Amino acid sequence: MKILVTGGLGFIGSHTVVELQNEGFDVVVIDNLSNSSEEVLKGIVTITGKMPLFEQLDLREKKSVEDFFKRHNDINGVIHFAASKAVGESVGNPLLYYENNIASLIFLLQELSKQDKANFIFSSSCTVYGQAEEMPITEDAPVQQPMSPYGNTKKIGEEIINDVAKATNINAILLRYFNPIGSHPSAEIGELPIGVPQNLVPFITQTGFGLREELAVFGDDYPTPDGTCIRDYIHVVDLAKAHVIALQRLLNKKNTEKVETFNLGTGTGSSVLEVIRSFEKVSGKKLPYKIVPRREGDITEAYANTDKANNILGWKAQSSLDEAMESAWKWEQKIRS
Ligand code: WQD
Repeated sequence: MKILVTGGLGFIGSHTVVELQNEGFDVVVIDNLSNSSEEVLKGIVTITGKMPLFEQLDLREKKSVEDFFKRHNDINGVIHFAASKAVGESVGNPLLYYENNIASLIFLLQELSKQDKANFIFSSSCTVYGQAEEMPITEDAPVQQPMSPYGNTKKIGEEIINDVAKATNINAILLRYFNPIGSHPSAEIGELPIGVPQNLVPFITQTGFGLREELAVFGDDYPTPDGTCIRDYIHVVDLAKAHVIALQRLLNKKNTEKVETFNLGTGTGSSVLEVIRSFEKVSGKKLPYKIVPRREGDITEAYANTDKANNILGWKAQSSLDEAMESAWKWEQKIRS
């Protein structure tokens, strides 16, 4: 079974390529290397003993996408990660995000709809819920106007997939991630943020390593038990395994609708201060931090109701926050050594 993974050298993509190859799938990776490097292939081979096929390709180039599918007309499924994903950057540069995240999706779907087997797994995000009214968040929670162009590209992407699936042979599963963190336990692959990390956990591990002076905690005046924001931090390997299970659901024609949606989280919310304490526990280091004003656009609280993923997808996150933080810290130390 040949599977195309777009953005397959990225953080979640590379971990998913590992799990696909562990399950015996033949993988073709497309990546434009705008936010990753071919070095990641070495980590994938070290872990799995298999080198995926790799083609450097930009999905914004319609002709390149057409040519790719002419050369690979035996693709059984596609897992689509390739997208820009920095929330803050998207506010300042919305057209980059609409072009990259939407045009790429359109060109990909145009070619996929011509294939016999058109199984499509889409990397979506809990950001489509905005600040949900009720916790934990179910898949039926209303999709709200996301706070950023990045989040809006995920909302629009879901809408496009729903419309296209109705009109073509495409079957799709939308996976709404909560907060992916951590790294493969081998420390052969992991998160490689470029520049100053925007996300909490890489900023913590870089501060722990001494690359950053201190962590700025964006606000402790939220209506939460300790005043800091709550999120559902899920180990990236758990997330990767969910993609393989979702793909197998489509390959085995177990899906009951043309488009199905699943929240991928642990079901447990953790505050920023709790994440800091987890890091201190697993690293044995005191983390320097200061409380600063809230970050524009942050929501107070988001954690997943995981019943649908557990009961219908048959998937459940296995790793605890501490285990995820430990893997993130191990990776940080490895890449700095
Ligand atoms: C988590 C919490 C911050 C950095 C975003 C996207 C989501 C996904 C993950 C792409 C918040 C606080 C953070 C820091 C802090 N992205 N924080 N100091 O914003 O929940 O989600 O990234 O797929 O789609 O929306 O993640 O890690 O940026 O922030 O206090 O230096 O940590 O305020 O409460 P977020 P995050």
